[in-house]
Amino acid sequence: MLRRVLLSLSRSTRVRDLVETAPISRDVVARFVAGTRAEEAVTATRRLVESGRLVSLDRLGEDTLDRAQADATRDAYVRLLKLLADDGLTAGAEVSVKLSAVGQALAGDGERLALDNAAAICEAARDAGTLVTLDMEDHTTTDSTLSILRELRRDFPGTGAVLQAYLHRTEADCRDLATEGSRVRLCKGAYKEPAGVAFQSKQEVDRSYVRCLKVLMRGSGYPMVATHDPRLVAIAGELVRRTGRDKGSYEYQMLYGIRPNEQLRLAARGERVRVYVPYGDEWYGYLVRRMAERPANLVFFLRSLATKG
Ligand code: FDA
Repeated sequence: MLRRVLLSLSRSTRVRDLVETAPISRDVVARFVAGTRAEEAVTATRRLVESGRLVSLDRLGEDTLDRAQADATRDAYVRLLKLLADDGLTAGAEVSVKLSAVGQALAGDGERLALDNAAAICEAARDAGTLVTLDMEDHTTTDSTLSILRELRRDFPGTGAVLQAYLHRTEADCRDLATEGSRVRLCKGAYKEPAGVAFQSKQEVDRSYVRCLKVLMRGSGYPMVATHDPRLVAIAGELVRRTGRDKGSYEYQMLYGIRPNEQLRLAARGERVRVYVPYGDEWYGYLVRRMAERPANLVFFLRSLATKG
């Protein structure tokens, strides 16, 4: 119930304006977001890479309905990739892109615009010596995102996909994408979705995650196991053993600021562990989705509001 309320709030512009202008401690945002500027994100990346972890950087922003803003997001990614390359960090850092932030939702030719902008980012990533993963948003965008992924992979075959275990369709999508060289991040899914398209209970979502992970681990692609769930991390380890996969033929992924000790524990065992590092001004929607996953984070946030307000 609380999760559904919070997920509705993550899309409310009125609440967003209120929260963004509230005297929130920088510490609250800083726990989950690496900073507002690209330079701060690069500093966080350097620290993570030095600790033996990999990184995927996300410039926060979604649901752009303005062509100029979509192009500005593209340019910001191109600049970020240049900064990473100049710092020699692209062997350990890729970028994650939300297609809605580069124009997908624009009426008319939004899908074309998102494809062109994403292709420009993929090209900059290739020049910098790294890759792009396309984040997945709510279910109304899944077909469009997978179709843009297919287009991009013609020129940039390393472009990664994200699939969400809470969707009924995802096991079939895993079968389609578990092919040679195909990088697929499997997550549970972070949006409020109707029962017609998505499993609603944690048990059903977890069971779907395991089914999907089996398909990816048995396939010939590169599975990216994106979860903080200790049970699922253990099951992933067991599937790696059973399928005889080598370390380096899959990776674990977790979010910046969440279970950092577990990230380090896995990395110390020689596992590839990638941390998803968001940065930028538009942290509201991202932060509220993190609250929805774990009420303890909400308490932390409200307490800080109360003490700073
Ligand atoms: P779940 O939420 O069930 O949590 C399991 C356990 O993990 C908890 O009991 C707790 O111990 C710990 N935990 C989880 N969340 C926590 C938090 N916020 N704070 C502290 N502890 C926490 N979604 C999407 O729809 N599209 C996308 O493109 C992506 N991309 C993405 C990339 C990466 C690298 C990750 C890790 C996740 C995503 N997600 C995503 C988000 C994903 O769908 C999901 O909402 C979160 O990962 C939370 O789900 P868990 O699998 O962690 O399990």
